[in-house]
Amino acid sequence: MAAKAARRPPALKPVLVLNGPNLNMLGKRQPEIYGRESLADVEKACRAEATRLGLTVEFAQSNHEGVLVDLIQAAREKNSGIVINAGAYTHTSVALLDALNAAELPAVEVHLSNIYKRESFRHHSYISPAAIGVIAGLGTQGYLLALQALARRLAR
Ligand code: DQA
Repeated sequence: MAAKAARRPPALKPVLVLNGPNLNMLGKRQPEIYGRESLADVEKACRAEATRLGLTVEFAQSNHEGVLVDLIQAAREKNSGIVINAGAYTHTSVALLDALNAAELPAVEVHLSNIYKRESFRHHSYISPAAIGVIAGLGTQGYLLALQALARRLAR
C-alpha cells in the first residue's frame, strides 16, 4: 500500500507591514521623537521577528494615500494580516479606514511615538476602529509586538 503523504497545514500568506507618509525619513526625521533607526532597520528587524514566529512579511511604504488604499485592497487576497503605521493619515483618512474594513483582515495599528503625549490633533485615529489593537510609544519595538500579536491571532 502506498504511504500516505504527510499533511502539512497550508502556508500562511505573508503579513503586510505598511508604512505611510514620511516614514521613509525614519532615522533622519525628528530623531528625538522617532529615534535613529531607519525604515530599512525596521524592515530587517521585522523580517527576523517574522522568521522567529514562523511568519513571512511583505514590507511597503508610500507617501500617497491612494497607493496605501491600493495596497490594503490587494492585501485582502495576498496577505493574512496587516501591521500599519499610517503616519499622519492616521488622523485624517476615512479612506484608509474604509480600505481596512473592506480587507477583512486582522490589522494592528502601530505608532512609534506616544500620540497621546503629543498635540491634540494626534489623539484621534480614524483607523483604530478597524484594528484588533493599537501600539503606541514603544518605538520600533511596536512593530515586533504587532507581529507577535498577529502570529498568535493567525494560529487560532
Ligand atoms: C506616527 C505618529 C503620527 O502622528 C505622525 O504623523 C507620523 C508618525 C508615529 O509613528 O508615531 O508620521 O504615526
